Amino acid sequence: LPLRDKKVLITAGPTHEAIDPVRYLGNRSSGTMGFELAKTAANKGAQVVLVSGPTNLDVVHDRIQLVRVTSAQEMYEICHKYYADMDIAISAAAVADYRPKEVHAEKMKKKEGDLVIELERNPDILLSMGQQKKNQFLVGFALETENEMENAKDKLERKNLDAIVLNSLKDDGAGFGSGTNKVSFIDKNLEIKTFALKTKPEVASDIWNEIIARIHA
Ligand code: C5P
Repeated sequence: LPLRDKKVLITAGPTHEAIDPVRYLGNRSSGTMGFELAKTAANKGAQVVLVSGPTNLDVVHDRIQLVRVTSAQEMYEICHKYYADMDIAISAAAVADYRPKEVHAEKMKKKEGDLVIELERNPDILLSMGQQKKNQFLVGFALETENEMENAKDKLERKNLDAIVLNSLKDDGAGFGSGTNKVSFIDKNLEIKTFALKTKPEVASDIWNEIIARIHA
């Protein structure tokens, strides 16, 4: 098994940023890509910590420890609890960049006129993992709508990654909420491999093959 005894951290899903006890800011990530990456790794022998934001997904596997979180801040804390001890980390979560500055203790009442909610920045979990990287092989995702390749390469360098997976949104059936995805895998030497539109389990397998080829190189 190519990943036997490797410790792998994977983030998945969206984050929910509370506004009050019943409302939040979120996004349409289903978590599927991260869960598929976790299953594939476990089937290849890895010991996986899967840190997931709110999703409808579940996974039961001897070698997957599923840690459910809600907010970006919680995801950040759980990731750093495990990261130092990991061999590989993949950030597939759609982490909210901002959170409401104030979380109301009671359900907000409707008032006359418009409402402004002030937002503050969340930590960039992947950036922080890049900054604290020792020997981990660190992989990020990039979801861009313009200048996709340039932005992905920029992210790869800025976040000190070993590889980045560019999710193409330009192709029908790719990305959020769909069962399929079309990706390019770009490593830190800027070697690029572009894959066809495939199901997410197939994409997970392609991504792991690229990672495995590089960690044993
Ligand atoms: O910079 P951008 O958000 O486009 O980068 C996307 C990558 O960074 C993804 O791998 C995502 O999981 C990760 N990320 C993160 N924490 C954030 C924002 C993004 O880990 N606050």
